[in-house]
Amino acid sequence: MRSLALSCLFLLAACSTQHAWHVPQEWWEAQERPVGSSDGSVVALDTQGGEQPVLFLAGALDRALAAELMAAHANLEIVYPESAQQALDLAPRVHGAEVRWATPEFVAAAPQLRWVQATSAGVDRYLANEALMEDERIVFTNMQGMHGPTIADHVFGMLLVLTRDLRIHAQDARRGQWTRQGSEVFEPVALEGRTLLVVGLGGIGREVAKRGKGFGMTVWATKRRATEPPPYVDRQETSDQLMAMLPEADVVVLCVPLTEETRGMIGAEQFAAMPNGSYLINIARGPVVDTEALMTALQDGTLAGAGLDVTDPEPLPAEHPLWQIENLIITPHVAARSSLTRGDWDRLYRENLSRFAAGEPLLNVVDKSAGY
Ligand code: GLV
Repeated sequence: MRSLALSCLFLLAACSTQHAWHVPQEWWEAQERPVGSSDGSVVALDTQGGEQPVLFLAGALDRALAAELMAAHANLEIVYPESAQQALDLAPRVHGAEVRWATPEFVAAAPQLRWVQATSAGVDRYLANEALMEDERIVFTNMQGMHGPTIADHVFGMLLVLTRDLRIHAQDARRGQWTRQGSEVFEPVALEGRTLLVVGLGGIGREVAKRGKGFGMTVWATKRRATEPPPYVDRQETSDQLMAMLPEADVVVLCVPLTEETRGMIGAEQFAAMPNGSYLINIARGPVVDTEALMTALQDGTLAGAGLDVTDPEPLPAEHPLWQIENLIITPHVAARSSLTRGDWDRLYRENLSRFAAGEPLLNVVDKSAGY
């Protein structure tokens, strides 16, 4: 018995030190999921079928992957600068770069630069970089769609913690208390039959919508551009219909990029339109929501609860009043973290570097005029 207990302990310790789930390469290879989006795909540089030498400056790219890519493409050189100054010194020879190097100063010094790869899905923090955004010769690509499945899990994780009152039970369990009444003021909620409104049906929104269907919800969505709705969306409208949809939305999940159009899109007027006792989850960007109005909505009963993976301001300072709100869950911008995301991220980066070297159209091209 004692040795069984010891082996269990040992196993637990081993699991807790390993803890990353490994998703094997064969799994990715067997996926029918495309690596990235070919909407707006474009050739950044004609390398004459892979003849012309190209220099790419990397940062977060896995070094083993870089070595593999250089072995596969004789014309591709990948360099990891050690400082911004070193990147700047290389700038006149550079054809492509990870976004961290593409400061306005660097772009101005890099007349041959034709491609910049962002390491995030959202590119809001680069919109003010006019050198990058306004130079039509530079193709800007992002990680859109790579985070969708994991972030959608996080959305439902936060939602279920709220709707099933799990925090109260977790607190009781820690105290060794079998307390069945849960919170005195709150009856747990079932998602079946409730209406989910996904605001922004892009790479993340689609995964949220799919999971909502799986929970038996009626799934509504808004999208900036009118498109044919996917089968798991019951009603899809363009973004200008948001106010008309909010009064029937039990759960609103924000999945829009942060642009001038979406900044502050959920404020006092939108909360006033939502039914009492509804839920809001924001995994997009903090400034999409007016923080003051959110605090009021959480305190006056408009919202039964909210989940934020992103805040405004971010990081949220220790003394910020948001931390004190009971029916609010905050996670520190970690919703995308998983080995699945990391693998998809590598796949997109690998694919785009191969395409760049071969002079083929790049995937996940940012629409610079739309800002995402
Ligand atoms: C994370 O928030 C991202 O935009 O990739």
